[in-house]
Amino acid sequence: MELRGLRDDVYRRPLATALDRLGIGPGWTCVDVGAGGGDVSVALAEIVGREGRVYAVDSDPTARDEVAEAAAAHSQVLAITQSGEDLRLPEAVDLAFCRFLLLHVADPAVVLARMAACVRPGGWVVAQEPITSAGRINGRPFSMPAARHPDIGALLPSLARDAGLITIDAWAEAPAGAGPGPVADYLELLTEVDPGDDPVVLPPLVTVVAQVPAR
Ligand SMILES: C[S@@+](CC[C@H](N)C(=O)[O-])C[C@H]1O[C@@H](n2cnc3c(N)ncnc32)[C@H](O)[C@@H]1O
Repeated sequence: MELRGLRDDVYRRPLATALDRLGIGPGWTCVDVGAGGGDVSVALAEIVGREGRVYAVDSDPTARDEVAEAAAAHSQVLAITQSGEDLRLPEAVDLAFCRFLLLHVADPAVVLARMAACVRPGGWVVAQEPITSAGRINGRPFSMPAARHPDIGALLPSLARDAGLITIDAWAEAPAGAGPGPVADYLELLTEVDPGDDPVVLPPLVTVVAQVPAR
């Protein structure tokens, strides 16, 4: 699947693989929780088209302006300021998605449960979260001290189970590189450290593709 908006996103492959597993297409309704700058929201909007809808939810009010700018050409993207813990949408959606969100929230189980509650019976929850300490910079473990749960990815399958979801697929995937390029650029963006020519393995992202039980 070609995700135009994510062509340069180092983590685009696990996203494309996850979305392929769903059979997502025109007309779907989605929520992207912790949408940030809206990269994934825009990619979803391109797939669901004008008949679909993407709620881009973030607790940070500045994200709403960023999403509005990124999604200017996509009227199907609705940016909402709301915390994942209080997630409430005007309709049940086909897909609730999050990436790099649960590592930052106070209680990941609460947010995942809210996401599941916003999905129609038989619909989908996709979560993509890192195991930060499994990343490597020149062979040394990566660290992200500012995150509340830097290794939450390792717990994601059990969090999904405890939220009453049926896991259809789950895996971990990490971009790697050495020297200048998108992996080094991404690391610098995250840590403000330029790895130079050092080999880098970014934190593996654990993806869980899960379904809400049909009633
Ligand atoms: C690292 S960014 C991820 C952005 C985007 N999901 C991506 O993958 O590019 C994390 C985002 O989650 C938002 N966030 C943090 N805690 C949140 C919460 N409790 N509810 C909703 N959004 C939250 C932050 O404001 C930030 O925009």
